Amino acid sequence: YHVEVLEEVPSTNTYLKESDGKKNNTLVFAKKQTKGRGRLGRSFFSEDPGGLYFSLLKIEDLLQYNPAYATIACALSVRDALSEVSGLSLSIKWVNDIYYEGKKLAGILTEGTLEMETGTLSSLILGIGINVNTGSFPRELEDIATSLFMETGRTYVRQEVAKSVLSHLEKNLLLTKENPDALLASYKKHLLYLGEEITFLYEKKPRMGILKDLTAEGHLLVESEGSLLTLHSGEISIR
Ligand code: BTN
Repeated sequence: YHVEVLEEVPSTNTYLKESDGKKNNTLVFAKKQTKGRGRLGRSFFSEDPGGLYFSLLKIEDLLQYNPAYATIACALSVRDALSEVSGLSLSIKWVNDIYYEGKKLAGILTEGTLEMETGTLSSLILGIGINVNTGSFPRELEDIATSLFMETGRTYVRQEVAKSVLSHLEKNLLLTKENPDALLASYKKHLLYLGEEITFLYEKKPRMGILKDLTAEGHLLVESEGSLLTLHSGEISIR
């Protein structure tokens, strides 16, 4: 890896996206982010220096990383690494949020850039935010976010946590090419709400349904109003 550690930056994902000439496998860590970004245009609280905020740039061998699988590989890697270091039994909320007992512990923002001429993927940025030693959250997040420290009463060496995530990630990224079925099976083991009633947006309208399965592509199968729907992206929740 080519490692950069920044004191403070708006967003490590944006930083990598906007800088030219970076090498494959550049890793950017920030002690704090002032404009941490989440999925679906949301923000990600990353002003507490106890958190671990980093992004990994991939520009080589991209064809092997089907972006849908890369996101899944990343979620599973963060889940497995955090479970190992903390001993907590963690779950994945589709697509890639890591949860402990109803509260969010980590989030992932995968972004790609496309080659204009050919429409192929020219870079992949995997952005990972983990509430490691975070001691408090802004009021509005108190009921929905948590940290490893808050759940276990211990503090963690963030470098060690990052190392563990990265070693899982390299292994799981290889699986996206060599054995995606095994990757999806491991992911599905930790998936929240399987068989339960969920709410979601479908064609921009809120709907309810039963979460039936994860497809071979990593999409969700939901039974709703007598038909089977496939969700490709977005967000699900329970009431
Ligand atoms: C989400 O919760 O929707 C995803 C959150 C992703 C946060 C990480 S922190 C490092 C990287 N830089 C960002 O701006 N976002 C990601």
